[in-house]
Amino acid sequence: MQKLVFLTGAGISAESGITTFRDSGGLWEKYPVMKVASIEGYEADPSLVIQFYNERRRQLAGVQPNDAHHLVAALEDRYEVTVVTQNVDDLHERTGSSHIIHLHGELMKATSTYRPNDPEQVVTLPSHDADIKMGDRARDGSQLRPFIVWFGEAVPMIEPAADAVQQADILVIIGTSLNVYPAAGLIHYARPGCRIFLIDPKPANVAESLGVHIIAKGASEGMKELCELLK
Ligand code: APR
Repeated sequence: MQKLVFLTGAGISAESGITTFRDSGGLWEKYPVMKVASIEGYEADPSLVIQFYNERRRQLAGVQPNDAHHLVAALEDRYEVTVVTQNVDDLHERTGSSHIIHLHGELMKATSTYRPNDPEQVVTLPSHDADIKMGDRARDGSQLRPFIVWFGEAVPMIEPAADAVQQADILVIIGTSLNVYPAAGLIHYARPGCRIFLIDPKPANVAESLGVHIIAKGASEGMKELCELLK
């Protein structure tokens, strides 16, 4: 089976009603990103940050995966699929994608403030409305915090993600402005023979030399076109 790797961003969840970050009306227009999504912000005001992610987790209860998520999962019938996502929502999981690498963490998980990347400390929250509260303790006794990779923190999953892209026969990038590294740098790990597609209504600029096939559409329509191209 050929190896198909997806690199998804907020745009794949936009049609499910989850706002992106940098589009007009995006999350970073409403919230000061360094206050709510950086390690300095968390250290300065953990309660504000914990509440910000409680609100984003609660939003998941009211949204459903869209056709794009379903089409990504359905391609597992024909390809060995790896989904590398920058998203922290659980929509890929809910459509049954079986190999998902979360580069920036997961809203449905929580961890230790002292050792956030120690697998022993990571716990799965029971439901979308399972708020983390000040005073909740991780296994090591420190304050329980969102299992999110904040600006200023390492991205431990970048290595397995780069390995997956390096082995890909096909790389499909969906719904990311390719603004944030190291995720945005993954495109450069693709082998010379790898077919690369980019699905986005406002596609980010990518080097001509990469020979990227641009599908300038929304995620669902773009995935339908991709499935036709892959037949
Ligand atoms: N279908 C496909 N793509 C869409 C759609 C849609 N319906 N609507 C918007 N987009 C595209 C936008 O054109 C843009 O290129 O989705 C992209 C969203 O870009 P960002 O908001 O920057 O989101 P993303 O690239 O995922 O951000 C990366 O930044 O703040 C951090 O950790 C956060 O993981 C996030 C990272």
